[in-house]
Amino acid sequence: MNKQESKNRVEKLKKEINHHRYLYHVMDRQEISEGALDSLKNELFKLEQEYPEFITADSPTQRVEGRPLDKFKKIAHEPAMLSLFDAFSAQDMKDWESRAKKIKSQIPTSLKLRGASINPNFAKAASGKQKSQVILDYYCELKFDGLAMSLNYVNGIFTQGATRGDGKVGEDVTNNLKTIESIPLRLRIPSEAELKNIGLDSDQANKLLNIIENGGIIIRGEALMAKKIFNELNKKYKKAGKKVLANPRNGAAGSIRQLDSKITAERKLDFYVYGIAGADDLRLQTHEQEIKLAKLLGLKILESNKYCRNLDEVNKFHAYWEKNRKKLSMEVDGVVVKVNNLALWPVLGIVGKGPRYAIAYKFAAEQVATALKGVVWQIGRTGTLTPIGVLKPVRVGGVTVSHVTLHNMDEINRLGLKIGDTVIVERAGDVIPKVAQVLPKMRSGSEQKILIPKNCPICGSQVERIPGEVVLRCTNKDCYAVTLRRLSHWTSKAAMDIEGLGSKVVEQLVKAGLVSDIADFYSLSEYDLKPLERFADKSAENLIKAIAAKKELDLARFIYGLGIRHVGEETALLLAERITNYELRITNLFDIIKIFQSIRLEQLEEIEDIGPIVAKSIYDWWHNEKNIKLLRKLEKNGIIIKRQTANSMQQSDFTGKVFVLTGALNGLTRNEAKAKIRELGGKIASSVSKNTDFVVAGENPGSKFNKAKDLGVNVVSEDDFSKMIE
Ligand code: IVH
Repeated sequence: MNKQESKNRVEKLKKEINHHRYLYHVMDRQEISEGALDSLKNELFKLEQEYPEFITADSPTQRVEGRPLDKFKKIAHEPAMLSLFDAFSAQDMKDWESRAKKIKSQIPTSLKLRGASINPNFAKAASGKQKSQVILDYYCELKFDGLAMSLNYVNGIFTQGATRGDGKVGEDVTNNLKTIESIPLRLRIPSEAELKNIGLDSDQANKLLNIIENGGIIIRGEALMAKKIFNELNKKYKKAGKKVLANPRNGAAGSIRQLDSKITAERKLDFYVYGIAGADDLRLQTHEQEIKLAKLLGLKILESNKYCRNLDEVNKFHAYWEKNRKKLSMEVDGVVVKVNNLALWPVLGIVGKGPRYAIAYKFAAEQVATALKGVVWQIGRTGTLTPIGVLKPVRVGGVTVSHVTLHNMDEINRLGLKIGDTVIVERAGDVIPKVAQVLPKMRSGSEQKILIPKNCPICGSQVERIPGEVVLRCTNKDCYAVTLRRLSHWTSKAAMDIEGLGSKVVEQLVKAGLVSDIADFYSLSEYDLKPLERFADKSAENLIKAIAAKKELDLARFIYGLGIRHVGEETALLLAERITNYELRITNLFDIIKIFQSIRLEQLEEIEDIGPIVAKSIYDWWHNEKNIKLLRKLEKNGIIIKRQTANSMQQSDFTGKVFVLTGALNGLTRNEAKAKIRELGGKIASSVSKNTDFVVAGENPGSKFNKAKDLGVNVVSEDDFSKMIE
């Protein structure tokens, strides 16, 4: 290759490398592998070595400066780099908007404002005639937790980059910024079509090209370290026995203020734009345009940025990212809300350290102090007991937290935790909340030691600590499974029929230590549910309402729901009828306990269809102290028992008749059919015998149908059955 050919090749290589840099670091796209890109860079490097006269400041090989600096030069910022005021709630945002609207409505008609022509709402409001209809729209960006930087481009070339410093004077960190691949060393020249696409007319497009080629442009944005890089670096540092970085922000700060840019390069920082300064000639109309233009110039913007028509949309954007911020590759701590109409920026002006046209709408704190009110022990699938801290409910990381896992006794001891302590609770993103710290200086002296339970809180069996392990275990192997089955039985369709309380949710509540017996369902609050996975504000509210709606229980369903051995739906109904006959003034659980405890075993056996085994099981259940305690707890939690409905006591053609259902019914669900039969005085059996009066056969009936035929039992179709119940 001769010199001229080499020169052409160098130009081509620079363009190609820059194109892939733009795709990869700005557009998040990749057309060639990193290895391939490296080989292009290597070729360029070699050619430049051969012909040093071809090296230009914007060459990709110039990103790493080999020579460490002694100190940083001071650079004055023009315009100054401002700070932002904070907002912490939707109300703060409303107040901020009201102040801005008030100022906007006072704009004199005579004031000529650029941008007024493209925004009819603004034009109206600016005329001062429609003060009541002042409308503002916004552009929302995420608030990066990095370091503010100012980049100077002269004639399209990156010439100088500086830290924010005190806002007026910063430090020259050009060489270090040059190691950041998302900072273009030369501005990209957008096509006219691209500029048109973002709303620039040809006059603006020409002005822009002129600025890029013969003028200056100042880019403002944030240098930061991605979470992935932070974790990788720390892993490496730990392995090498080096000091680890405290957080990505510290990582970025340490890298930028490195005198040796080789070290900065190693730390692979990123840069995102949030504004363009010093291009006033362009007369852009909106901040949205400004950001989109930055992207066309080859800089990286956050694609999550969003135009919002009003504060409602701003609040939605804020709520979404507060919840989902962990999905981002970098740390953010809020939303920067900016008035979109640039013409209003000078009108709204600056007060003290920050502008009125923008505000930092912060995310909820991820660490908050609260009180540890107590500890409950949650039982796991394998019988392990986990301590759960009961907290004074507190909002942290955007949700209300009232329970927190304390893991095990070792963790409790490590934290030095006592009941009554002031604790710092941490919750980042969707991560499970935890106690990060105890504040022992806040103690009053009334705090109590956390004791290891001797008995399982669910089944009462002994608890053992396996030697050499930190975990505590219930010695009853079936404890967890039995509990789950018992609780799910209570909430099932045939018993309490509580909507939204299927076995999965029940298991979730048990795992969270919120429920260990059926009475616990009735003391749950929204605060308990909201922190759980799959629960949003609305679903938590709905479940609490559904539980409350079923506080008044049907007597037969109640008896069935207790899960007494051998007591199915039919037997429960028989018992309900029996005790209603016995005592008509049943009003509360206390009456029911009294009645059941006064019925002798022989009396139970006398009830039609109840044999000695079933009678004994019923008798034992009502004479077990643990069960009575549970019933008292249910009563305390507001359970009311409804009297048996009059219908079920009436005589009808169905009275005493035994029905068996088989096959699929179309008009009614099985439970509805059963309820109807019972309501009319009939009984349901699960299998066909010579005592069966009717077999109701739906579609595809099973073996019960054949058995009925063999035994000569009446078989009726669903249609016949419908007529019967009419
Ligand atoms: S705009 C006039 N936009 O927040 C406002 N700042 O307190 C100039 N920051 O020093 C800043 N993300 O480091 C703006 N999307 C964003 C930002 C952002 C983070 C930082 C920036 C600035 C500080 C202001």
